[in-house]
Amino acid sequence: MTDKKTRRSQAWYGKQDKDGFIHRSWMKNQGFPDHVFDGRPIIGICNTWSELTPCNSGLRDLAEMVKRGVWEAGGFPVEFPVMSLGETQMKPTAMLFRNLLAMDVEESIRAYGIDGVVLLGGCDKTTPGQLMGAASVDLPTIVVSSGPMLNGKWQGKDIGSGTDVWKFSESVRAGDMSLQDFMAAESGMSRSAGVCMTMGTASTMASLVEAMGLCLPTNAALPAVDARRAALAHLTGKRIVEMVEEDLVMSKVLSRESLKNAILANAAVGGSSNAVVHLLAIAGRAEIELSLKDFEIGGEIPLLVNCMPSGKYLMEDFCYAGGMPVVLKELQHKLYPANTILNKDISSYSEGAECFNYDVIHRFDAPLKPAAGLRVLRGNLAPLGAIIKPSAASEHLLEHRGSAFVFENIEDMKAKIDLPDLPVDENTILVLKGCGPKGYPGMPEVGNMPIPRCLVEKGITDMVRVSDARMSGTAFGTVVLHVAPEANAGGTLALVKTGDMIRLSANDGVLELEVSDDELAERRKHWKPEPPHYSRGYAKLYIDHVMQADTGADLDFLVGKDTRLVTRESH
Ligand code: FES
Repeated sequence: MTDKKTRRSQAWYGKQDKDGFIHRSWMKNQGFPDHVFDGRPIIGICNTWSELTPCNSGLRDLAEMVKRGVWEAGGFPVEFPVMSLGETQMKPTAMLFRNLLAMDVEESIRAYGIDGVVLLGGCDKTTPGQLMGAASVDLPTIVVSSGPMLNGKWQGKDIGSGTDVWKFSESVRAGDMSLQDFMAAESGMSRSAGVCMTMGTASTMASLVEAMGLCLPTNAALPAVDARRAALAHLTGKRIVEMVEEDLVMSKVLSRESLKNAILANAAVGGSSNAVVHLLAIAGRAEIELSLKDFEIGGEIPLLVNCMPSGKYLMEDFCYAGGMPVVLKELQHKLYPANTILNKDISSYSEGAECFNYDVIHRFDAPLKPAAGLRVLRGNLAPLGAIIKPSAASEHLLEHRGSAFVFENIEDMKAKIDLPDLPVDENTILVLKGCGPKGYPGMPEVGNMPIPRCLVEKGITDMVRVSDARMSGTAFGTVVLHVAPEANAGGTLALVKTGDMIRLSANDGVLELEVSDDELAERRKHWKPEPPHYSRGYAKLYIDHVMQADTGADLDFLVGKDTRLVTRESH
């Protein structure tokens, strides 16, 4: 328990001297009376609202609801902005800036006189970026997510964010959809505030946050515009004040067990491959041991949630079927005991949960697919590992041997992919280099490169693709991702040539380049790293310090935490 005198915020607002005067007086220009500085919990509301992050456009309203709850519980809410990352708007990729957001969040929390923090995020990188930053300071912390958009609707059918963009765009390339129809679908896809309503990275991360007990139950799936999300934000405001009083800091909630529960939940919901780099990075900040090995859960967990891209429904359906409490109930016998922000075991999150549509959320013993989860691949082509998402892949390609066709970088791929005489067939393995953390930079979501036009026209819809890139959580295909070390860090990927044979075995976890060690050593002698794409600013800092995908692609000097109270004053 903490009391008024020992609160962190009192080091700012409890001092009867020049410094206390300065801290309080300037805050009073917003109309706050004397008594709000009396030692009550001061709650920071860390907001990633931005008009350039459309997925987070509802967070301004939710912040007001959090404030209601904080005031009601006797706390003092203060909202502050941090950098926002609009996945669909930023170039070269929002992932380049995830670590910058994490730095912003960390330093804002540390520098200001707050006792607890509510993280308002949603769009893909905002949730992990905020959690990484918060973990490095370790105050009482709760997440309120944006919530998904309403289901997309077009020509009387449901259409899903991202997933149907990829499908429609391939249909246009194949000549099965007119450009006019393609453009018309655009307005029907994104119909309300909120994040992608497929089980993309945003809803995946929100689901995993719920599985880790870092938000109130039901936070993941309630639509952004559902009044119950506003109520949940209000209740979160109340709960964070109690957490400060209980001294329930983030490290008393987030643990190796809760992260392992997130890995299990990711399999059950058919979650995004991006969860790997995010969970590893969060664990690194929290000084919790977690490695790619922990993602090797094989066929232990079946696919339960029938949402795009692994299934057919959308997040609104998932919500109405019962949402994450039902998933956690189905997984209960597999989950590790782990604390939550309610200071109760995670099993409490599924108490009373009821499934209202078993076609949307399947039972553990009658799953949608028997073995879900990501597979970790290793071999001479990925000595530090690579991943594949079998639930979004073609069954017949999960065991495959084929000759490589290599694109040296993204520009090379774009220039060649539509050539009518590209020498490829459906057994070819497309290899893309230069898209890892250092290379692009920022490890963009381009791993699901398009099927070459000459094959699309023959009706080919999937083939094995290998790269050091990521892929959108809304995407699908037999796509090997996160190859580490990346090409620009001198990984074997850099040495692959067109015509080399590659063997993929998702079942055995193998990714092998069938070229002798001697030949690879010879090629390495002639390999020269591409010059970096940036020579100054944050991007240079990123290129110089980013770690590889197998450890979460955080910056090396940001790993770990610093929970010290800053004692030096500014004046
Ligand atoms: Fe923001 Fe999908 S683009 S959640």
